[in-house]
Amino acid sequence: MLTREENELLCRTGPGTPMGTLMRRYWIPVLFSHQLPEPDCPPIRTTILSERLVAFRDTDGQVGLLAEHCPHRGASLFFGRNEEEGLRCVYHGWKYDVTGQCVDMPSEPPESTFKDRIRAVAYPCVERGGVVWAYLGQPELQPALPEWEWTVVPDSHIFATRRWQESNWLQAVEGGIDPSHVAFLHRGNTTALQRGQDSGPSPLVYARQAPMSTPYGFIMGNAGGIRGVASPSHFMMPFYKIIRRLRHDDPIGAHAWVPIDDENCMLYSWEWHPERPLTDEEIEPCKTWGSIHAETFPGSDRTVLNQGNDYLIDRELQRSGQTYTGIKGVGMQDTAMQESMGPIQDRTQEHLASGDIAIVSLRQHLLRALKDVGNGGDPPGLDPACHRERAATFIHGGV
Ligand code: FES
Ligand SMILES: [Fe+2]
Repeated sequence: MLTREENELLCRTGPGTPMGTLMRRYWIPVLFSHQLPEPDCPPIRTTILSERLVAFRDTDGQVGLLAEHCPHRGASLFFGRNEEEGLRCVYHGWKYDVTGQCVDMPSEPPESTFKDRIRAVAYPCVERGGVVWAYLGQPELQPALPEWEWTVVPDSHIFATRRWQESNWLQAVEGGIDPSHVAFLHRGNTTALQRGQDSGPSPLVYARQAPMSTPYGFIMGNAGGIRGVASPSHFMMPFYKIIRRLRHDDPIGAHAWVPIDDENCMLYSWEWHPERPLTDEEIEPCKTWGSIHAETFPGSDRTVLNQGNDYLIDRELQRSGQTYTGIKGVGMQDTAMQESMGPIQDRTQEHLASGDIAIVSLRQHLLRALKDVGNGGDPPGLDPACHRERAATFIHGGV
């Protein structure tokens, strides 16, 4: 259980909030590169950490990320003309380059230098691994570029999706790192999980193992020892999970729950193999939404199964016992539970038990990081060396 104040502290990520300040210390996934497919293509609206932004790719192919509202009189730059090295507001024609500098002000006399003093809020962006990453923090604190493994493998080795989730980012991360739900919520759903239950420690066993702190977050289910297999997952600051690998040659999975605003987050999901292309057999469950990914409407981040249709829960299927929930797909089973808690879970009303030890650990790590940053220190996990940590399966002598 948390106090109302602690819950607010952990959940709210808008400008000026403590958690928002902490999150702005990291490079953050903003879009997939393919959403801006070519120079001068249409801009995209996006909201990150409660900031309304517009992303565009300029004539040279560089990505810009500007505050949505034009510095002149506030019209949305989403409607802008993306042309000749900049985004031009269609209200009065002011134009901005990727740094936010106003480079043309046709509504003013030609001799005016006013444009030189106008700059839109703009955040630096880099593209790595098919993702546009942005840094929304203080320029002097900008960390080294991200080096997550999925950003360096060839396209053939990776499958990636994203989807909009109607919940605060924290309950989504808590759902992601919650080991004790796996044996219930996802029961009967995927061959991968069934394989894991055949060969690895029971989720009910490792749910009660205390996570092990690391320089970037913590490792869950690390002790293993049951039937000679240990397959830990990692929580990495500020909102990543590297999913445990059930067999040595399986692809590795990862999620990032990026706050859109305090009541919505964007869930990025990656599966990749570090050494080889994914096989058809591995990609097939991704594309039929039997794995961690979920189907979205074409051209949209909104999921086909959603709150509005009760995730198309099939009560007959639920009753039959073939799946525990009657909801199709591991990913949507998670989303359904996390959204059902309300936009921001009221943690003053919860009753944590021994199987929630990873949840408690997550909150402790985040509160500690908030304290460190509040005292002028650095949060954990800024060093890209952390990004190279990999979920693995260990086979050992066991007990
Ligand atoms: S509001 Fe954008 S140019 Fe006037
Ligand atoms: Fe889950």
